[in-house]
Amino acid sequence: MLLEQARPDKAVCRMLAFVLISLWPALVSGQLWPFGPPNIVFVLADDYGFNDVGYHGSEILTPNLDKLAGEGVKLENYYVQPICTPTRSQLMSGRYQIHTGLQHDIIWATQPNGLPLDSPTLADKLRETGYSTHAIGKWHLGFYKEDYLPTRRGFDSYYGYLTGSEDYNTHYRCDDMHDAPGGDGVDTDERMCGYDLRDNEVPVKDQLEKYSTQVFTEKAVNLIKNHEQKKPLFLYMAYQAVHSPLEVPEDYTWNYYNIQDKNRKTYAGMVSCMDEGVGNITDALKKAGMWNNTVFVFSTDNGGEILAGGNNWPLRGWKHSLWEGGMRGVGFVHSRFIQNNGTQTKELMHVSDWLPTLVGMAGGDTNGTKPLDGYNQWEMISKGKPSPRKEILHNIDIMFPPKGDNLYPDIFDTRTRAAIRVGEYKLITGDPGNSSWIPPPSTSLYFPKTSHDAPEKNVWLFHVTSDPDEEIDLSSKHPDIVKELLQRLAYYNSTAVPPVYPKSDPNCDPKLHNGFWGPWVS
Ligand SMILES: *[C@@H]1O[C@H](CO)[C@@H](O)[C@H](O)[C@H]1NC(C)=O
Ligand SMILES: *[C@@H]1O[C@H](CO)[C@@H](O)[C@H](O)[C@H]1NC(C)=O
Ligand SMILES: *[C@@H]1O[C@H](CO)[C@@H](O)[C@H](O)[C@H]1NC(C)=O
Ligand SMILES: *[C@@H]1O[C@H](CO)[C@@H](O)[C@H](O)[C@H]1NC(C)=O
Ligand SMILES: *[C@@H]1O[C@H](CO)[C@@H](O)[C@H](O)[C@H]1NC(C)=O
Ligand SMILES: *[C@@H]1O[C@H](CO)[C@@H](O)[C@H](O)[C@H]1NC(C)=O
Repeated sequence: MLLEQARPDKAVCRMLAFVLISLWPALVSGQLWPFGPPNIVFVLADDYGFNDVGYHGSEILTPNLDKLAGEGVKLENYYVQPICTPTRSQLMSGRYQIHTGLQHDIIWATQPNGLPLDSPTLADKLRETGYSTHAIGKWHLGFYKEDYLPTRRGFDSYYGYLTGSEDYNTHYRCDDMHDAPGGDGVDTDERMCGYDLRDNEVPVKDQLEKYSTQVFTEKAVNLIKNHEQKKPLFLYMAYQAVHSPLEVPEDYTWNYYNIQDKNRKTYAGMVSCMDEGVGNITDALKKAGMWNNTVFVFSTDNGGEILAGGNNWPLRGWKHSLWEGGMRGVGFVHSRFIQNNGTQTKELMHVSDWLPTLVGMAGGDTNGTKPLDGYNQWEMISKGKPSPRKEILHNIDIMFPPKGDNLYPDIFDTRTRAAIRVGEYKLITGDPGNSSWIPPPSTSLYFPKTSHDAPEKNVWLFHVTSDPDEEIDLSSKHPDIVKELLQRLAYYNSTAVPPVYPKSDPNCDPKLHNGFWGPWVS
C-alpha cells in the first residue's frame, strides 16, 4: 500500500526536480529565458577610436555598427584600458591589472608571461554554465606555455593569432627582446620573427595572402552555420582590425576618395571592412535562426592610435594614455531582451564588468574566481537601472618612469603613473602620456586646442562628467577632493600584487619552432 502510494509522488518529485534543474539558471539570474540562455556574440575591435564610428559623428562609414547600436543600448560612459593586453585580461578575468600582475605595458611575444591561471576566465565560466565556447582572432594573453593557450582557458575552439599584432596578409610578425623590470628598453639588436596563425593549437599555413578581417569573418560565419543549437553559443570575435599595420584590400577605400591623409584613408577602409564583417556575422546569425536569441556586444579594446589612422576627437590623448582618449571606449549591446532598446546610457561601466554581467545574465555563477573587480551590469543595460559601479581604478603602474615631485608624500606618491574615477571626478597622477587633443587629420574644421600644463605637472583633477575633454584642471581649486581620491589610490595600491614583466627569453625564437610563434616552455 505504502509503496504503491509512494510511486506517483516519486514521479512528481522527479518531474519537479527536472523542472527546477532546467529553470535553475534562469531563476538564479532572476531572468526567465523563454528559449534557454541566449547566445552571446562578443565582438572586440582593436585600437578602434572614439571618433571612428558613424554614430559618434565620424567621417568613417559604419552602417552596420550604427544600425545595431541604434537598435540596442549605446554605452556612452564605458571604459576600457589604454592598451591591448590589459583590456583583454580584464575582460577575461573580471579583475583589475593590479590584481593579476599585468599592470605594466603589454605581454610582448618574446616574454614568458600570461594571464595568471589561478582564476577561471569568462569562457571557463560560460562553458560551466552550458555554453559552447569559441574564440576567433587575437589572443594576446600569453602563450609561452601550452596552459596559456585559449583552448586551455575555457574555449572549445580557437582560430587566430597569439601575439599582439602582425601583418594582415602574411600573418608574420617580428618582435624585439625586452629588458627585465625597469622599463620598456630593448635588450639586444636581435629581432625574433615568425608566423602567427593557429587552428586550435595547430599552426596554419594555408591562409597566406588572405586578409585577416575576411579570414576571421568567414570562420565565424561557418562556425555559426555549423553550430548545434542544443547548446547556447559564446563567440568571442577578437578582430585584428583596426590595429596597425595599415593594410586593407583597395576596394574598401574607394568610399574615402575625399580623405587626403593616407593613413586615415587606409584606416577608414579597414574600419569599413570590419563593419562589413559584423554585417556578415549578424546575417549568419539571422539565417541560422539564432539572432532572435542572441546578446550581441561590441567593444573596442582601447582608444584609437592617432599615429596609425585612429582618432578620438574631441577627447584628450590617445592609445597608451590615461587621458579619456586612451580609455573611453566605443561600446554597445544589441538584443531583443533589452527593454530600453534604442537608447544610450551614461551609467558608468568598465570592461572588467563583462564577466559578472554575461555569466550572471546567462544564469551562471562566479564561484571559483578570485575576488572580482567587475560588477553585474545586466539590469543597467537591459532595464536602465542605475549602475552598481561608483568607481573605476584605471590603473596604478609602479614600473612606469616617475614624473615630477611627490606632492602628497603622506598619502600616495604622485610621481607614479595612476588614474582613478570616483563618481563624477577623475584624478590622474604621474605621467599620463601625451596630453594633446588631436582633431581628425582629414578636416580643418577644428580649432587646435593646446595644453598649457607645465612639463613637470603630475596631478590633475577633472569633473569628468561635465568636462569629458579634460580641459579644466581642478586640482588646485579642490585639494580636499584630490586628497580623497589619492586615498582611494593608496587603498587600491595596498591590495596590489607586484607587477610581472619578465625579461625576454631567447628560447621563444620562432626559428626553433618551425617558424611559428608558439609555446616554448614545457
Ligand atoms: C525595441 O524593441 C521593440 C520590441 O521588440 C520593437 O518594437 C522596437 O522597434 C525596438 N526599437 C528599436 C529602436 O529598435
Ligand atoms: C561578407 O560577405 C560577402 C559575401 O559573402 C563577402 O564577399 C565579403 O568578403 C564578406 N566580408 C568580410 C569582411 O568578410
Ligand atoms: C527565432 O526564430 C526561429 C526561426 O525563425 C524560430 O524557430 C525560433 O523559435 C525563434 N526564437 C525565438 C527566441 O523567438
Ligand atoms: C556558489 O556559491 C554560492 C554561495 O557560496 C552557493 O550557495 C552555491 O551553491 C554555489 N553554486 C555552485 C554551482 O557551486
Ligand atoms: C604602492 O605599494 C608598493 C608596495 O607596497 C609600494 O612600494 C609603493 O611605494 C606604493 N606606491 C605608491 C604610489 O604609494
Ligand atoms: C604629443 O604628440 C603630438 C602629436 O604627435 C606632438 O606634436 C607633440 O610633440 C607631442 N608632445 C610631447 C610632449 O611629446
